[in-house]
Amino acid sequence: MDNGIRHILGKKTFTKADIVELLMCEGENKKALFAKSAEITEKYIGRKVWLRGLIEFSNICGKNCLYCGIRKGNHNIERYSLSDEEIVQAATFALRNSYGSIALQSGELESCNVTDRIEKLVRNIKNLSAGKLGITLSVGEQTPETYKRWFEAGAHRYLLRMEATNELLYAKIHPNDAAHSFHRRLDCLKSLQDTGYQTGTGVMIGLPFQTADNLADDLLFMNGFDIDMCGMGPYIEHADTPLANTSGGLLSIEQRFELTLKMIAIIRIMMKDINIVASTAMQAIYPAGRERAISAGANIIMPNITPLMYRGSYRLYDNKPITDVRPENSAATALAGAEVAYGSWGDSSHYGKRTGIRQ
Ligand code: 5AD
Ligand code: SF4
Repeated sequence: MDNGIRHILGKKTFTKADIVELLMCEGENKKALFAKSAEITEKYIGRKVWLRGLIEFSNICGKNCLYCGIRKGNHNIERYSLSDEEIVQAATFALRNSYGSIALQSGELESCNVTDRIEKLVRNIKNLSAGKLGITLSVGEQTPETYKRWFEAGAHRYLLRMEATNELLYAKIHPNDAAHSFHRRLDCLKSLQDTGYQTGTGVMIGLPFQTADNLADDLLFMNGFDIDMCGMGPYIEHADTPLANTSGGLLSIEQRFELTLKMIAIIRIMMKDINIVASTAMQAIYPAGRERAISAGANIIMPNITPLMYRGSYRLYDNKPITDVRPENSAATALAGAEVAYGSWGDSSHYGKRTGIRQ
């Protein structure tokens, strides 16, 4: 191992140049990076993995992100929206199987009806579980008032990926119109944090036009923003999207996977006690992808508990696996030597320290 990387790994804080070097490292250096992140995970998290039963309750989306298979402009997919009853049934499944938490995710829609409906659903699920199920929402950009209503109804975590924290890169992967504003996204993230949510964000890795400098800035952004949760995954083309036709200059899918593992390891070293998701996109590349993400420092898995008949339609990217066909087994296959912490919320202890609220 050359001294460069040993020197970097021993530092309290990383500079952008340090992170770029870590992202590029190979061989013995790469082993040292993963060994360091394993050491930090063991110390700050323990060998535990928490579950969020993922309910992809609707693939209807008002936006047109250039990379996403469920974008409004894609007419090649069948749109669906689960009934309230189906959502509650899935939440009940999570409760009975001691998942501890659920995550409600959908395409992005902003309307009074959507706000009212989600508020009621969150309240119902809180009541039916006597407060036992933790609820994460991931339903995009909304007004501060809406975030507040959902928080007061009982949702306490929110995932809103920045997708790219560099404004120019953001503009290249989104239509340039008011509905896809980088600044609104930032404002929303801030508003979530101000409302009191455990706030999560993340980026896609291996996007066209993305550089190692961009990725280093993404990590510095997340650290600077003091996020509580991180969800990052490799970019995977979807044939029916505009970005899929810009594939020149892309890293190979294996390189994107490896780079994602490094991003996970580096953010674990930088932020230590946050929750990091082992994303489904990792599993789309390798069947044991989530397991590899856990070895690199992730501590959250989101077994898909959406009713099976809808799963094929929530296709964000090509080859998205129909995961967790038998959800009760799925956790066990993705563990990498860690143990599932059944029946507990698994809140990020980072949030507790940031806000002074004991977890
Ligand atoms: N490749 C990888 N991830 C994608 N997402 C959307 N499209 C893609 C893609 N082509 C991710 C985005 C979004 C989440 C719901 O899915 O990061 O936030
Ligand atoms: Fe809609 Fe989210 Fe896909 Fe963008 S990434 S098109 S907001 S589901």
